[in-house]
Amino acid sequence: MGIKLGILGLGTVGTGTVQLLQDVVGRHPLLKEIEIYRVGVRSLSKPRAVELPAGAITTDLEAIVNDPAVDIVVEVMGGLEPARSLILQAINNGKHVVTANKAVIARFGAEIFTAANQAGVYVMLEAAVGGGIPVIQPLKQSLSVNRIQAITGIVNGTTNYILTRMQTEGSDFSDVLADAQRLGYAEADPTADVDGLDAADKIAILASLGFGGRIHLQDVYCEGIRQVSKTDITYAEKLGFVIKLLAIAKKTSSSPLSVRVHPTLVPKTHPLASINGVNNAILVEGEPIGQVMFFGPGAGAGATASAVSSDILNLVATLQTSTAKPNPLLGCGHQHYSEIAP
Ligand code: NAP
Ligand code: HSE
Repeated sequence: MGIKLGILGLGTVGTGTVQLLQDVVGRHPLLKEIEIYRVGVRSLSKPRAVELPAGAITTDLEAIVNDPAVDIVVEVMGGLEPARSLILQAINNGKHVVTANKAVIARFGAEIFTAANQAGVYVMLEAAVGGGIPVIQPLKQSLSVNRIQAITGIVNGTTNYILTRMQTEGSDFSDVLADAQRLGYAEADPTADVDGLDAADKIAILASLGFGGRIHLQDVYCEGIRQVSKTDITYAEKLGFVIKLLAIAKKTSSSPLSVRVHPTLVPKTHPLASINGVNNAILVEGEPIGQVMFFGPGAGAGATASAVSSDILNLVATLQTSTAKPNPLLGCGHQHYSEIAP
């Protein structure tokens, strides 16, 4: 069985994914089944770091999602539109989708998963939260019998990188942000990182999976790191704390679900205090399991390509072994996006 990929986007994540798939092709039997068939970009004149077959690159992204030969659409272009419409078009054309786009999933997840369930296709999104850290599938599968009480995470690599360098080197915010952009950690518009919006998208997705309902972004309190000064960091340090941008979803028997993102004084003894640089960590607390922490690189080409490529391989493995309708534990089913008040 040959599987043809239509990849939307050849930037940091798209290039990393193509490189990784090409590098490991000889090492993984399933990859022999996969063909990087079409790749959609904005500009044909931009130099590319990967070699692709002649004619594979196009600026006509609609042609990719409408091409009957394409089996899996890999959306790594980012932004809300046309990404949302292209994902929906792909689904309605019966194609499976792998996406790294937390902005689209956090806003339009319900619409997308409803369409996917109706079309009988999978939507995979491991790369949308935590970069290379496997957290979506574990939350859906391995922890699914637990009653989740809290999810607390450092889920934005750019801001953790900035805060770490401000703390350890006394660096200036704007210099470090420029480095994060150069290293491919930041969003195309880095205000999404700096103002906490990217972290809000991610905690909304995690909370909807962990607590089993749809989280509306307008209900997520969101404050970024723009106001954090070197002086704040120095005083925090003297008092035994580090400042981290935390994303928190928490529910107790006496209080409703609260979802928020803000800079937080974290005691140096707390497991999240030592998560530095571009790394992310997500601490999940549940009953009966207790605490589980997921840790790893939260952004960047290689880490994110690892998550995207693993989604592709898992999908191909499933398609080869199953003729049944999508298993909601593998792709994301819309049951997680039924309405609940946070
Ligand atoms: P990027 O470097 O800006 O790349 C975006 C790619 O999409 C480029 O190749 C661009 O084409 C193409 N593109 C964008 N809009 C387009 C349009 N309207 N028509 C045609 N092509 C278009 O972005 P990225 O960092 O790879 O991020 C991609 C997605 O992954 C985003 O959703 C992001 O949130 C997510 N993500 C990123 C990271 C990370 O570490 N960077 C980690 C996890 C998830 P050109 O090359 O021609 O400009
Ligand atoms: N801009 C994001 C970050 C990319 O810095 O965490 C990974 O989602």
